[in-house]
Amino acid sequence: RKRIGVMTSGGDSQGMSAAVRAVVRMSYIRGCEPYGIYEGYEGLVQGGDLIKKMQWQDVRGWLSEGGTLIGTARCASFRERPGRLTAAKNLILAGIDALVICGGDGSLTGADIFRAEWSGLVQELISTGQLTEEQCAPYRFLTIVGLVGSIDNDMASTDATIGAYSSLTRICEAVDSIFATAYSHSRAFVVEVMGRHCGWLALMAGLSTGADFVFIPEHPPQPGWEDNMCKVLAKHRQIGKRTTIIIVAEGAIDTNLQPIKPNYIKDICSQRLNLDTRVTTLGHTQRGGVPCFFDRMLATLQGVEAVQAVLDATPDTPSPMIGINENRISRKPLMEAVRLTHSVAKAIESKDFDKAIGLRDPEFVE
Ligand code: F6P
Repeated sequence: RKRIGVMTSGGDSQGMSAAVRAVVRMSYIRGCEPYGIYEGYEGLVQGGDLIKKMQWQDVRGWLSEGGTLIGTARCASFRERPGRLTAAKNLILAGIDALVICGGDGSLTGADIFRAEWSGLVQELISTGQLTEEQCAPYRFLTIVGLVGSIDNDMASTDATIGAYSSLTRICEAVDSIFATAYSHSRAFVVEVMGRHCGWLALMAGLSTGADFVFIPEHPPQPGWEDNMCKVLAKHRQIGKRTTIIIVAEGAIDTNLQPIKPNYIKDICSQRLNLDTRVTTLGHTQRGGVPCFFDRMLATLQGVEAVQAVLDATPDTPSPMIGINENRISRKPLMEAVRLTHSVAKAIESKDFDKAIGLRDPEFVE
């Protein structure tokens, strides 16, 4: 019976527990044994109690849980080869040679490096007498399958990452609440949302709440944007609005790549428009709470696909990333998706903003 390790890594996101549940249950359905790797890569490196066989009933109720119930961590030792050597040993001792990892681009890149090094690590374990040839013989290659869990929706080659829609839901609820108090006092609010270097959460929140102005990293405002923003906000007030809502992505920048800070926007609104203005940073409330229906569905369908991808894997197929494209669950080459994701950041750094937007969707570029 094939043993499949499942782990979550990097920042948690809503739906990660649902993804683990789906991998565990589908493993049983396909005649495999699922193992939970607790605390992300820390669990691989430390082994012992952090690698546990999971039973069907262990994941009962996980569909609607927020965060990740098997824990996650940012693990420094796995970034170094000695840490990965210990991780390889722990996996072989536990009889595991397939990992389904739910995380962001950094976590998934680490996994692919581990896979590429695998045979060298196994040789080293044998040559240093830590394991015997016989112990290692069944574990000739490591299978890695990536699930993208992140509220940021910043991974190329997939339309949605697990957690992004729950986070968007939370942001919309928060902005709706803010709207009521803004209306009462006829105030302006500058709302900062997460997303790291990606503006998806901010842009979609702006659309979904009817915000007056949105700042995102991929489309920095032109110099003099302060005048333009004031013109737009003043016009909205002139036609009778009692509220002003400005959504700022935490990674928002100007065309010189300088951060646009919520307090700076607040000062402009207060000083130039005489608006009573407050700043609200939504912070980690955006990552908490129960997953919305879409993330439950996405995590479940992708977890099922991930187990199937493990069973289909050969030493020659590149590690797949399970995505969703035009409402269909997809398998894409993991490292190609990571490469495209990184080239978005590079395009922004080199001020090629149009390219940055297109790169997240390779079909759009072609
Ligand atoms: O990547 C998810 C995310 O929530 C980002 O939106 C945010 O910038 C970051 O993680 C916060 O990280 P931490 O929880 O480590 O402060």
